[in-house]
Amino acid sequence: MSIYDGRMKLRISAASGTEAVLKRELTELGYLPGGAEYGRVDIEGDMRDVARANMFLRTAGRVRIVLAEFSASTFDELYDGTRAVRWQDVLPSDAAVTVNAKSIKSKLFSLRDIQRVVKKAVADSYAAAHGGVRMPEVGEKYDVEACVLCDRVSLTLDTSGAGLHKRGYRVKLGEAPIRETLAAAMLLLSVWKGERPFLDPFCGSGTIPVEAALIGTNTPPGLKRAFAFERFSLAPAVADSVRREGEELVDRTVKLRIRGGDISADALRLAREHAARAGMAEHIHFQVQDAREISSRFAHGVIVTNPPYGERLMQGRELDALYADFGRAFARLDEWSAYVITSCRSFEKSFGRRADKVRTLYNSELECRFYRFLGAPPERRARTDAGDAEGDRI
Ligand SMILES: C[S@@+](CC[C@H](N)C(=O)[O-])C[C@H]1O[C@@H](n2cnc3c(N)ncnc32)[C@H](O)[C@@H]1O
Repeated sequence: MSIYDGRMKLRISAASGTEAVLKRELTELGYLPGGAEYGRVDIEGDMRDVARANMFLRTAGRVRIVLAEFSASTFDELYDGTRAVRWQDVLPSDAAVTVNAKSIKSKLFSLRDIQRVVKKAVADSYAAAHGGVRMPEVGEKYDVEACVLCDRVSLTLDTSGAGLHKRGYRVKLGEAPIRETLAAAMLLLSVWKGERPFLDPFCGSGTIPVEAALIGTNTPPGLKRAFAFERFSLAPAVADSVRREGEELVDRTVKLRIRGGDISADALRLAREHAARAGMAEHIHFQVQDAREISSRFAHGVIVTNPPYGERLMQGRELDALYADFGRAFARLDEWSAYVITSCRSFEKSFGRRADKVRTLYNSELECRFYRFLGAPPERRARTDAGDAEGDRI
């Protein structure tokens, strides 16, 4: 019996600051997530849950199977703990194993030595199970991670392959694009649930509008890509049936009002291509527009956006002036809400309004703030005599 036939501990990573959103996603998928810390959340599950986590989670970076957890302050303890794993139940006989190492606040800190010792223990375990024969390592790649955190080792096996932010729709990178998983986290932290008008006035290559359309249509983000676990020859084949489950979740009748604007026609060409590849083109209207001139005939819309930051695209006064003009344009919108991510610390001052909530999020390695400016929610009309409940008035 391989480990893939039973229940396992699954470790799901998320960008720092978005763990709580990941936890909420897991709860909504029917799991009982453990504590959210150090950019990761654990659940219990089988291979079907591995597939669901990879395909359905919008904010997850990677899904790993926990193979062993033990304390180690010496390399002998690391070797013995790794050797104790029944690797023949994890790896096929031709597996090509790569070992990555991480060390945080631990006595074992040389990543190269951690890698070397773990690799040796895996190879020795293989040889012991195969009459002294060395691992041929000519088959599929299996990525093992040895993470030492406060002298506790976790040996995990990656099931995702390419990071889960790679949905498959983004073919070329625009100027300073945001990660798909961070865009999704920002949207899930917002009040936008699909029914209100949505605008990203600095949409660049379209990541935020595309993620909004995926959320609005309830389309699982990983339906169109492949995952490492699909190549695990000892594991049951579950991907196709989970993909079918995902397809059935998609709302094909919903009408969304999603707009993406940018001052650059080139960026919008890319955005349209990305939306088309994601199958979301019909839900998004892209137009060349200066964010300083945004307007809408609707009330209670929602903006989630990633404007230029000082570090990459604009500097000093020019940036302050852009934020100030954007702030004035936003103030003219009727009870809209805005969510803005930027690393610029003087954003609120330039924008001309104090945020009612500020979170710290990381855009790759860059520490940013995510500012929330809430407008009043749309009024809901009381039930009519005919018994119909009126939705939003917009
Ligand atoms: C940080 S990038 C947005 C990246 C986008 N989130 C993505 O994933 O590709 C900022 C964008 O703002 C656009 N921009 C700069 N000034 C603008 C303005 N005044 N109005 C609208 N867009 C502007 C740039 O062309 C650039 O595409």
